[in-house]
Amino acid sequence: MNPFVDEIIQAVVQTSGLDEMVVRELLAVPPDDKLGDYALPCFTLAKQLRKSPVQVADDMARELAPLVAASARLASVSAAGPYVNFAVRRAVFIGHVLDCIATEGPTYGSADQGRGQTVTIDFSSPNTAKPFSIAHLRSTGIGHAIYRIHRFLGWTCVGINHLGDYGANFGQVLAAYSKWGDEERVRANPVIELVTLYVRFNEEVEADPSLKDEARECLRRLAAGDEEMVALWRWFSTESLREAERIYAILGITFDETLGESHFAEKLDEVIEFFSSRGLAEESEGALIVHVAEGDDQMAPLMVRTTNGTSTYHSRDVAALLYRHERYAFDKMVYVTDNRQSLHFQQIFRALRRAGIDWVDRCQHAPFGLMSFKGKALSTRKGTTVILEEVLDQAITLTQQIIAEKNPDLPHADAVARQVGIGAVVFADVNNRRTRDISFALEDVLNFDGETGPYVQYTHARFCSILRKYGRSVDLTADVSCLGDTAEMRLARKLAEFPYVLDLSARDSEPSYVASFALELATAANKFYNEVPVLAGDDALLIAARVRLVDAARRTLCTAMDLLGMSAPEEM
Ligand code: ARG
Repeated sequence: MNPFVDEIIQAVVQTSGLDEMVVRELLAVPPDDKLGDYALPCFTLAKQLRKSPVQVADDMARELAPLVAASARLASVSAAGPYVNFAVRRAVFIGHVLDCIATEGPTYGSADQGRGQTVTIDFSSPNTAKPFSIAHLRSTGIGHAIYRIHRFLGWTCVGINHLGDYGANFGQVLAAYSKWGDEERVRANPVIELVTLYVRFNEEVEADPSLKDEARECLRRLAAGDEEMVALWRWFSTESLREAERIYAILGITFDETLGESHFAEKLDEVIEFFSSRGLAEESEGALIVHVAEGDDQMAPLMVRTTNGTSTYHSRDVAALLYRHERYAFDKMVYVTDNRQSLHFQQIFRALRRAGIDWVDRCQHAPFGLMSFKGKALSTRKGTTVILEEVLDQAITLTQQIIAEKNPDLPHADAVARQVGIGAVVFADVNNRRTRDISFALEDVLNFDGETGPYVQYTHARFCSILRKYGRSVDLTADVSCLGDTAEMRLARKLAEFPYVLDLSARDSEPSYVASFALELATAANKFYNEVPVLAGDDALLIAARVRLVDAARRTLCTAMDLLGMSAPEEM
């Protein structure tokens, strides 16, 4: 992807016989820039060859020396302990990277990975009649970033909001409202009132388990089209969707399709027919199930229909998946939900595989860890929900205070506070490996010096300010052969990684790679800022060359943030 890196990889592949992907993943950056620009640790190869890593490094450096001497891109190769270090011709390297960024402009980093292919992404998918909590922020933020990254790489994307407007917890809210609900109060404050009812139901059910039956009965009436239940359901769904849409508007998110589980509940007969006609559906204590255990793993069966004759989360998802495949003929389908649903998706994938559906291999579950707020785990049921809208509002207010303190004369301060406050929350969401549980505190995610969104935004704004001070337009053809200092090289080397990071990020549905990249780029950029007086002196050629680097870094930071769903204010 970068011809310099590719040349190193090819050379190593030829001499070692290692796989290209393995070498690409092994290739690192030496801890000390004096050692070189790229380093290959030799431990893996040493194991294979049954030699010491130091010996392997030594042999390889010697073997590669003639190749490197003849190269227009590489400057040197040497062994240092168990590592082979490579230096590139720095000015040529920097020139190449800056030329790519100049020609590709805002599309720098994109590729045609997804050309002609469609990916459907099921994300956010909140449960209606429950408030939009920061737990759903994870699916929303991660899914949205996965969507944007794929789109950038040329995929046709279909973002799907699979609303949880059906099923057990809806039954509980309906039952709770029928018992204790007050129409006036719910009308006045639907989100809070509904959650209060939901929490009350879950408190009282401990003492009175018969409430569960009432919830089931409400659900049965709803499924049977009972007017009262249907009217309540419609009302609650509308209110919840309204709340979700306010949040999507704040976050700048739109979906290509929003369909509730209720829509797929109606397809129960089709799902039953699908499995029955293939001889896979079995009666079990009144319910209809499909066995999915393999070997002796004893995985619980997929439940197609309950003993009450109603649809299940499983059957609604099967109906949705069959519909999506028919409608979009996707090449990839990604489900973004928390990791407690991993079993659910495995069961579905296995059941469809048993049914002879080979395209199910294109489906993947991208699970994420739980989010807690100031160390408190979130559970709507126990009433510890943190309402996302409140968190976003707080983040904006806190940012307003920080700006008033640090930069009281900032123009458009309120708009910037919004971008930074929201950016901080969004970044915190995607900045950890998906699967990790994360704990979330506003003071931390708003720290301008920490590993935060505002830190990346601030670095971007700082680089914009250099360009403002420069006062002229950036000459994208300026000669950069005078560049090559350590800080310049480090920054250019980071910029060169971007296409590779994006490629992996889409492959693994892992926006955190892009977030980590943005942090590393910001750090390299700040080091550069501190060490290189870009506009000082009167060497106009040197200034013009460095300005190109500043501009390239600014653009790339901006693209990375955009892919994560954040704004990049030019001043803050
Ligand atoms: N509504 C579910 C929840 O909040 C998530 C739905 C995910 N998508 C799906 N097709 N099952 O837990």
